[in-house]
Amino acid sequence: MYTCGIDIGSVSTEALILDIDERKDYKILSYAIIKTGSDSKTAAEKSFKMALSEAKLNRNEINYIVATGYGRVIVEFANKNITEITCHASGVTLLFPDIITIIDIGGQDSKVIKIDRTSKKPIDFLMNDKCAAGTGRFLEVMAKTLEINLENFGEIFLSTKEKVDITSTCTVFAESEIVSLIGRGVAKEKIIKGLIYSIADRIISMVSRVGLEAPVCLTGGVAKNSGIASAIEEKLGVKLQIPFEPQITGALGAAYLAGKI
Ligand SMILES: Nc1ncnc2c1ncn2[C@@H]1O[C@H](COP(=O)(O)OP(=O)(O)OP(=O)(O)O)[C@@H](O)[C@H]1O
Ligand SMILES: [Mg+2]
Repeated sequence: MYTCGIDIGSVSTEALILDIDERKDYKILSYAIIKTGSDSKTAAEKSFKMALSEAKLNRNEINYIVATGYGRVIVEFANKNITEITCHASGVTLLFPDIITIIDIGGQDSKVIKIDRTSKKPIDFLMNDKCAAGTGRFLEVMAKTLEINLENFGEIFLSTKEKVDITSTCTVFAESEIVSLIGRGVAKEKIIKGLIYSIADRIISMVSRVGLEAPVCLTGGVAKNSGIASAIEEKLGVKLQIPFEPQITGALGAAYLAGKI
């Protein structure tokens, strides 16, 4: 059977189509990643159409659709909606069956999920969705202020030795702190290094509250920022597993769980 998972996040929306057999073996046929923008309903529809077209399937050939992410309730064409924690856990354990700790850093929240060794289901989680600081959006705002592409943050982090500590923990205050550092002529590379370490510190404190247990996986769009991944690895002292496409794990889990409806 064919199933589809749709993950409507605050920044990006993903649709993923699976071919699942009776033994629950699966094959990813296609996926689409687009910006959510201001209309999450349209984003859901558009990503679904793109994934269908890439898989060369028609809408009526999809047996079940599961929606997840913060916008999951608005997907009227979905058969069911399931929470992000459950879908991420399912998607990550399909890709890395032995994973115990999942760190997901998205656009507006970050979460740490602990997986049970035997059932492969989430047994504990911690979510920071109260404050934008330390999330993907925070990084986007800072990149804009610094006039440096977010895609280059990783390379800058790795090639810069010194950092400047960013003391503000709030997005708005951190932005003015950066503006004043730029005004004082501090090298942007050092500011980026400091920023990345400050985000890594926030994540580490969440991980330690849940309890660090390897193997650890990093997902979400921020996993594409190799600077963040390196800083977390350095501070945790653990090598992170990163999926081939870190933004699709929620949609993958949703599509797989659709096969169990
Ligand atoms: N190529 C890239 N390089 C660096 N960072 C990236 C890249 N692509 C995405 N990001 C980061 O990922 C963030 C979006 O992550 P993601 O797509 O997981 O968010 P989301 O699922 O929409 O959000 P949430 O789960 O919080 O609702 C962006 O804000 C940006 O910081
Ligand atoms: Mg997300």
